[in-house]
Amino acid sequence: MTKKFYVTTPIYYPNDIPHIGHAYTTIAVDILARWHKIKGDEVFFLTGTDDHGKKIVQAAEKAGKTPKEFTNELIPKFKDAWKKLNIKYNRFIRTTDKDHEKIVSKILQKVYDKGDIYRGVYEGFYCTGCEAYYTEKDLIDGCCPIHKTKAEKLKEESYFFKLSKYQDKLLDLYEKNPKFISPQNRKIEIINRVKEGLRDLSISRTDFDWGVFLPFDKKHVCYVWFDALFNYYSATRMKGKERFWPADVHFIGKDILWFHTVYWPAFLLSAGIKLPKTVFAHGWWTFGREKISKSRGKVINVDELISIAGVDSARYFLFRETPFGQDGDFSEQTLIKRHNNELADKLGNLVSRVSALIEKNGIEKIENRLLKKLKLKQIEKHFDNFEFDKVLNEIFAFIDICNEYIQNKKPWETKNKKDLFELKESILKIAELLWPFIPESSEKIKKQFSAKKIKKGEILFKKI
Ligand code: MSP
Repeated sequence: MTKKFYVTTPIYYPNDIPHIGHAYTTIAVDILARWHKIKGDEVFFLTGTDDHGKKIVQAAEKAGKTPKEFTNELIPKFKDAWKKLNIKYNRFIRTTDKDHEKIVSKILQKVYDKGDIYRGVYEGFYCTGCEAYYTEKDLIDGCCPIHKTKAEKLKEESYFFKLSKYQDKLLDLYEKNPKFISPQNRKIEIINRVKEGLRDLSISRTDFDWGVFLPFDKKHVCYVWFDALFNYYSATRMKGKERFWPADVHFIGKDILWFHTVYWPAFLLSAGIKLPKTVFAHGWWTFGREKISKSRGKVINVDELISIAGVDSARYFLFRETPFGQDGDFSEQTLIKRHNNELADKLGNLVSRVSALIEKNGIEKIENRLLKKLKLKQIEKHFDNFEFDKVLNEIFAFIDICNEYIQNKKPWETKNKKDLFELKESILKIAELLWPFIPESSEKIKKQFSAKKIKKGEILFKKI
């Protein structure tokens, strides 16, 4: 039986059009999903939107719309952006999907029946930007440390999830499954915070009704994160998809690691559901070293990103420039530089020179010694460790080797068909390995070099 591989993006808040941050995680998942397709796995790639909660209620109010109308207008913008970026997901889930809502409700009942949910009074602070609870000491001058906006003071009846009960179980999980939280440096932060102690978590609100109602008390709507996290599971409850649970990898940004590595496994442990294998947190893109922020005009949306040098160059840049897991500073100039120097000059040149030489001279089959210089094992290892920058470094090191090979062998003088055969086969392998990153260009190369009569084609990457 083929191996299954299940990978997810976070589900995004549809309160605005998608920007580079959303695109980053989504392309990362697309890269990994495509890699697993190359390996022959049966892949399930899930993305979607987090439609419920107060953040959406407020954004809809501001736009003079109901939350449903408001999100219905934004969802096509996400789907459209993913299409433009060549993202091939299997399902786009919304937390307002009926199958998802039903499952959340069922799980709430199950966790309640088990005794892990009790009624109480929540007294503390809440940041709607984060959709998260804060204590007074977390705040800076009464403001959320992330959004820098005043946190809302709450005192209301609420249901609580017995998070404290899971402290030891979570610590045990981190120890026994060293890959559950990745990368390693982020894991230590989480472990230390969990060791400081976990307080029970308020999981319901009463001051709005845009969410899943608690089945045992319909006055309350479920806390948006409880609802949202279960999207990963509910998407696999469709017929034929059951075998995909547990998820192999959740890719997320570092800002939401706590929710995914503390709340999420605790909810699952309580509900008696298997845990995902790995949660990997990537870093953040800044813009001129500053946090991406709409209010300061420092935001780059998907259309802008693509307009710089095309889809493939954007996808390539995001994963070549910065190790996945670390923060990176976005610069249009650097993207253009990499497009010109690497995609156009190195890859594009190789493809155009070799195809022109083959068109003139033809090829003759021989054992491919050139290809042996490609460090395939290393590349596979880097892919499996999500070290995408290293994958690209290795592939481009081999592209350099191929370009040097042409320089040294001078096939335009020797007309050696065997050398050209080696180059052709190597280019096909390069195209295969680059497919997860630059699918459109890779498919063009593959088509060009698998043809019966290889011809010099159009320029792949026009210099900017
Ligand atoms: N709705 C929640 C996730 C629920 S998952 C069960 C959420 N949504 S979000 O729209 O605010 O953000 C989604 C993702 O985008 C996060 O992983 C976040 O890290 C990522 N990014 C948002 N801005 C980013 C950058 N500037 N750089 C990189 N990624 C960033 O959180």
